[in-house]
Amino acid sequence: MPSLAIARVMLRELLTFSQVPREPEPDLVMDDPDKVAAYTRAGRVDGVMAPVYLFHGANILEILKPGDRAIDLACGPATQLGLVAELAPEVSFTGIDLSDEMLGIAERYIRDRGYDNVSLTTGDISRLEFLEDHSVDAVFSTMALHHLPDPAHLDATFREIHRVLKPGGGIYLADFARLRSPDSIRYFAYQYADRQPELFTLDYLYSLKAAFSVADFRTAAAHLAGQARLHAPRIMPFMLAVKSPPRTNEHARLRPPLAAIAAALPDNHKTDLKDLRTIFGLAGMKCGLL
Ligand SMILES: C[S@@+](CC[C@H](N)C(=O)[O-])C[C@H]1O[C@@H](n2cnc3c(N)ncnc32)[C@H](O)[C@@H]1O
Repeated sequence: MPSLAIARVMLRELLTFSQVPREPEPDLVMDDPDKVAAYTRAGRVDGVMAPVYLFHGANILEILKPGDRAIDLACGPATQLGLVAELAPEVSFTGIDLSDEMLGIAERYIRDRGYDNVSLTTGDISRLEFLEDHSVDAVFSTMALHHLPDPAHLDATFREIHRVLKPGGGIYLADFARLRSPDSIRYFAYQYADRQPELFTLDYLYSLKAAFSVADFRTAAAHLAGQARLHAPRIMPFMLAVKSPPRTNEHARLRPPLAAIAAALPDNHKTDLKDLRTIFGLAGMKCGLL
């Protein structure tokens, strides 16, 4: 069962028949040092995004296999990338982003934590010309696609994923989707406004306004037909994911470390994690590791 607050948003979305228009991100590439710092802080250790990274991390781990070469599209400060890289030391990862400021933070984070299976590169995720056709085993991306300027760039990104991925490769692409009601958008943006920097609250608000519609994702995901499935919660499309089936059933060893991270979350983050599982579960997406 979802929490009461989420149930209320679901009801509102169910009773809203129009959809707020998309407003592209004011900062497509995140280069402003203060905003980058606020975003980074929200993701580390006790940050409000910790349960989100844990949820997506478990799902990403499920589509990886030992020996893979994997890319993280628009890796930002590498919080998500670091979590996955730590638990999959036998996979080699490349984080791709267009922001020097983000990549600088990511590089320090990776170095400080001693991950020797991660490299970073500057690049545009909608033009991966620096990667050969069918040259990577897995592609993932979290909370970043809404930074693309328009649906044509979203489509180009999915086309590039199809081009660079090997047949049978792993895919996990998760992002916000545009809610129908402006009140629902405000609910999520201001949910934790009292315990996070205002810059992060605004960043979150802009992200939700910039999210693509489920229909935009459905069009783009057609490039990956037969490889991955779009999971979009029907009642409340707050987040969605495009996920390929797990590529190995030898993931059991990952359950204890993921359970330990989940157990260490504060209670409100545990509720968020449960809500994510419920929302995606309703959209048919299960994760065997959480
Ligand atoms: C909200 S952050 C998400 C970062 C990370 N994936 C995470 O889960 O924390 C969005 C990132 O997308 C990057 N970005 C925006 N447009 C891009 C593009 N066309 N190519 C590569 N990176 C891009 C921004 O610089 C920023 O680091």
